[in-house]
Amino acid sequence: MTNKELIDHLRQHQQLDHDGYKQLLTSMTKEDEDYLYKNACAVREEIYGKDVYLRGLIEFSNYCKNNCFYCGIRKDNLKAERYRLSPGDIVACAQKGYQLGFRTVVLQSGEDMWFSDEMICEIVKAIKALHPDMAITLSIGEKEKSSYLKYYQAGAERYLLRQETSNPEHYRQLHPKELSIAHRKQCLQDLKDIGYQVGCGIMVGTPGQTYDHIIEDLIYMKDFNPHMVGIGPFIPHADTPFKNEPRGTLEDTLHLLGIIRLMLPHCLLPATTALGTIDPQGREKGLLAGANVVMPNLSPRGVRSKYMLYDGKICTGEEAAECHACMERRIKRTGYEVVEARGDYR
Ligand code: 5AD
Ligand code: FES
Repeated sequence: MTNKELIDHLRQHQQLDHDGYKQLLTSMTKEDEDYLYKNACAVREEIYGKDVYLRGLIEFSNYCKNNCFYCGIRKDNLKAERYRLSPGDIVACAQKGYQLGFRTVVLQSGEDMWFSDEMICEIVKAIKALHPDMAITLSIGEKEKSSYLKYYQAGAERYLLRQETSNPEHYRQLHPKELSIAHRKQCLQDLKDIGYQVGCGIMVGTPGQTYDHIIEDLIYMKDFNPHMVGIGPFIPHADTPFKNEPRGTLEDTLHLLGIIRLMLPHCLLPATTALGTIDPQGREKGLLAGANVVMPNLSPRGVRSKYMLYDGKICTGEEAAECHACMERRIKRTGYEVVEARGDYR
């Protein structure tokens, strides 16, 4: 089959076999790319129209008990200046987000045991009490199922937890031995069973990653059928073991956004900050490849530069209102439209 035929097949049947994905990922011409993105945007517009949903990202703690080799806030990075927002600050930040027009906040942190389940629940309940129509997404790592259940009952309805890579050997290359892909996948299943809208996802171009690994991720995600998929390029951080490794490419990331849109037509697909970091128009290009969500930074300006997962991260000097306005302008120029809505999975 030609690449165009593969793209047609993918649009029609929402999947390809291993060899089909491999051919697409390794041999697309400029013309094939345009055809992929045209189809991805058409499918996205059939389901979500021209709407783009904004998620205000509150990075509330950069303490982490883990040591992932790629991540700038890993425990062993003694140069990271650690901070925690107080529960009151977190709620105030969400309130500010609401005033700016956000109807979803994402509460993200390292795996910081200082925040007990009870505290997380109190924060969620306080935000919900102020703004019942605001959706709350948590992105705080691997927890017991009983903890996930408590947060859900407190009012959190979405959870982001990227698998990073589905392949066990590759997972080993990116993480210390205390962490396992089996446990990560168990967490994702637990979240789904509880009733969360769940986001999984991967970094593109991590050290040791092959196209076969990426295809394993596509097949895993097709089977898991998540509500959201976070895809961004790997970017090295100077104070991590991967400091000398090359970053992932814009091309591979955009190809994957297009393919995932056709494979999971209904999924919520962010054009990530990492994509905006490797290319000044990265997020716009992501939207034009099939993405329909962006996640402007809503953290207080004083802590932004401390939440450095990778080098060069954008938006560390801006205020929340500036990022909101900036994203609105950028999105308008793509022909899409920011909507003040929760942006639930359809
Ligand atoms: N480059 C790009 N993305 C990274 N993340 C963590 N470290 C890096 C890095 N060096 C991503 C991971 C994580 C998400 C919050 O940020 O995929 O799940
Ligand atoms: Fe933060 Fe553009 S989104 S400055």
